[in-house]
Amino acid sequence: MRRGLVAANWKMNGSRESITELLHGLRQSLDTGAGAQVLVCPPMPYLDLCSRLLQGSRISLGAQNAHEASSGAFTGETAPGMLLDFGVSHVILGHSERRQLFAETDVQVLAKCLAVQAQGMVPVLCVGETLQEREAGQAEAVVARQLDVVLEACELTKLVLAYEPVWAIGTGQTATPEQAQQMHAFIRQRVAVRSGAVAENICILYGGSVNADNAAQLFAQQDIDGGLVGGASLKPAEFIKICKSVSG
Ligand code: 13P
Repeated sequence: MRRGLVAANWKMNGSRESITELLHGLRQSLDTGAGAQVLVCPPMPYLDLCSRLLQGSRISLGAQNAHEASSGAFTGETAPGMLLDFGVSHVILGHSERRQLFAETDVQVLAKCLAVQAQGMVPVLCVGETLQEREAGQAEAVVARQLDVVLEACELTKLVLAYEPVWAIGTGQTATPEQAQQMHAFIRQRVAVRSGAVAENICILYGGSVNADNAAQLFAQQDIDGGLVGGASLKPAEFIKICKSVSG
């Protein structure tokens, strides 16, 4: 039985004040009792604040990116070891916003995954097709390409996968539970080619306009093990409801 995971990707949002308030609210509801694993991924400058606010909490701390090198002349970048210093356990990598805005390639995403794993942290590898690619019947081919590069070289037992169709991100247009399940089953199959046992246990999250109203239906699908939540993760009541829609 796979343990559910709900990850909050706050993207480039929040302030010292709003994050303090948000984490206070999340801790009040989510620290009591069991349930799915919960992860919050703040913007880099707030990692220290979050790490302190999450002392003794069962909510884990994640980051939204990491550089592949361990140090050096990379102005503005963050090395995986620096994230570890703040108690980061997971790092979102290959998010479509970074693939599009900063032209991150599959090879670069792989290098980042390896660097993050080398520090003992878990990459949350994002894959997903654009609307144009879906309409051209290429959705599975695109996801397979993004996935295979990483699956071939990474430690599969220390990896979380996230299917985020680009057309569903921040648009309010969620994939239907059936569309999402179909791709999740495809992704799990892709992992099974390498190891049936890993495929059975690997956590595959869905991301793209997840909210309190659609979460339960999505998470009820056989191959959807939780969510990677953007906009709705900034609203405490909504995010808590989403977290409670996943079985622990
Ligand atoms: P939204 O939930 O705002 O659509 O964002 C999804 C996402 O990109 C999470 O990484």
